[in-house]
Amino acid sequence: VSKEKKRPTLITDLNSVEGNICIVDELKNIFEFAIGSAYPDLEDPPIVITLSGNNPKFGDYQCNSAMPISQLLKAKNVKTNPREVANNILNKTPSSPFIERIEVAGAGFLNIYINKTVAEHVLNCILRFGVKPPPMKKERVIVDFSSPNIAKEMHVGHLRSTIIGDSISRILEYLGHDVLRLNHLGDWGTQFGMLIAHLQDKFPDFKTHSPPISDLQAFYKESKKRFDEDEEFKKRAYACVVQLQAHHPDYISAWKLICEVSRQEFQKIYDRLNINLIARGESFYQDRMDAVVKQLKDGGYLEEDEGRLIMWGDPVKKDGIPLTVVKSDGGYTYDTSDMAAIKQRVEEEKGNRFIYVVDAGQSTHFVTIDACARRAGILKNSQKIEFVGFGVVLGEDKKKFKTRSGDTIKLSELLEEGLKRSLDKLVEKGRDKVLTPEELKLAQEAVAYGCIKYADLSHNRVNDYVFSFDKMLDDKGNTAVYLLYALTRIRSIARTAQISLDQLLEEVDKTGFKFGHEAEWKLGKVLLRFPEIILKVSNDLYLHSLCEYLYEISSAFTEFYDKCYCVEKDKEGKIVNIIFSRLMLCEATARVMEKSLDILGIKTVSKM
Ligand code: ARG
Repeated sequence: VSKEKKRPTLITDLNSVEGNICIVDELKNIFEFAIGSAYPDLEDPPIVITLSGNNPKFGDYQCNSAMPISQLLKAKNVKTNPREVANNILNKTPSSPFIERIEVAGAGFLNIYINKTVAEHVLNCILRFGVKPPPMKKERVIVDFSSPNIAKEMHVGHLRSTIIGDSISRILEYLGHDVLRLNHLGDWGTQFGMLIAHLQDKFPDFKTHSPPISDLQAFYKESKKRFDEDEEFKKRAYACVVQLQAHHPDYISAWKLICEVSRQEFQKIYDRLNINLIARGESFYQDRMDAVVKQLKDGGYLEEDEGRLIMWGDPVKKDGIPLTVVKSDGGYTYDTSDMAAIKQRVEEEKGNRFIYVVDAGQSTHFVTIDACARRAGILKNSQKIEFVGFGVVLGEDKKKFKTRSGDTIKLSELLEEGLKRSLDKLVEKGRDKVLTPEELKLAQEAVAYGCIKYADLSHNRVNDYVFSFDKMLDDKGNTAVYLLYALTRIRSIARTAQISLDQLLEEVDKTGFKFGHEAEWKLGKVLLRFPEIILKVSNDLYLHSLCEYLYEISSAFTEFYDKCYCVEKDKEGKIVNIIFSRLMLCEATARVMEKSLDILGIKTVSKM
């Protein structure tokens, strides 16, 4: 029985296309249409479009649907082979302004050659209107990231979460989504009992005089030591927790004071790295924890277990670890606050996507939160927790990242070292002699923070990665330094030609951009893929694809620049000829690179 299927609408008029068109999506539509016409009886035939790789013999993209379709037909006793299928698809492919030509090759591949006019149109749009995001349905997205714990150190794991979470927020904001960036601070819990008890002893007048806790971590260590060694102190610490949770004003002010000291420390890191986020820690959910516990009790989801109240994601199988929703002393846990948080994010924030950027070690915790929230009807149907896990940071010895003396590394010291190393590198290259002190400082910061961010983002986040200043400050290979240099070089081309942006844009209006040399076309095709990369990354939240793309752009640019001069000079060095369309390609390349770096949270400089 052949069903009346909805065919995708195809783009027929180039003028309706903007610079943000995702070519691969349009190709998918075209081939969905073609395959639907060639094989109307096949239900959901596979539409496989891939990039062809480096050999121009295979076209720019390929449609690889013929092989699986031939299998499907054989299963229905239709005698055929992939090549025949490929030819049938080709015969039904509607003409499109995007496609120059299609060839059937090998075992049944359809090699697709992209039309140059489309590419020229897209590049002209980028030059005229900037690098616009592909259009999309706007969503409310909650991104939970960074999330260090008060009084404890903010360690390299939190640094990863901060860098990845910021970049995820940036890409979603770029696409026009309504993003809520949340810092789920560990600011509520039993550790505050011992901190307050210790504060009462050391700074009894803390309510009138702000105590100089310059080193909150040392303070935390002291109180922990007492807690472990002194029974009397331990009792008092527990009593403090009870007072705090009962909102006794003295205890609340002690708690606030401690939180404030921590928050100022965290803020210094955020300021340096240019990170924006809203502090909404576990304490925010106090009342909401009561409410969610009641909901779970009333729903009959909680089971008693040695005095605790637990909840299973699957009450029949009971595998994995259940949530501890209420402790035997009546207190709440990390699990309770995450249940309250997901409920708040669904019901009050009205989120469409719930993203958590947390180390991979917590993945089971979030799988269980998702399962329990679903069981209790808090998460419905397609709503889900998106766990963005990441591996641990290793030292160059491939062991857990530590200082020489075996202490954990302080983030502020790490950033400080980054600044020092980046300046060394710039001086080593003699840049201090060329740049003004202001330019040098800008370059130093861009390189230091850029290299730390890029080293993190350019690795597949699920893997552990080795932290090495030497590697990240290398000016060869896929590093921030290499890219920042490449970009300044591109930016300097127009400067050398003494062509202002206005002059260039005037030329764009007059003649428009046109491809010449083969290397220009190669670079142009890479630039064309920007929307595709952005859409992919905003779905799977793997930022290393964007980094690989940046590297691909700069490699294609290098090849172009080696083969094509943009400015011709005579023996005296006087400019005799300017090839405007090549300067336009430089400008478009720089813009796509800048936008990509911006999404990665990396500042660019015009000189370095
Ligand atoms: N504070 C936690 C930690 O340091 C991370 C919190 C992540 N977010 C959450 N909603 N549980 O491990």
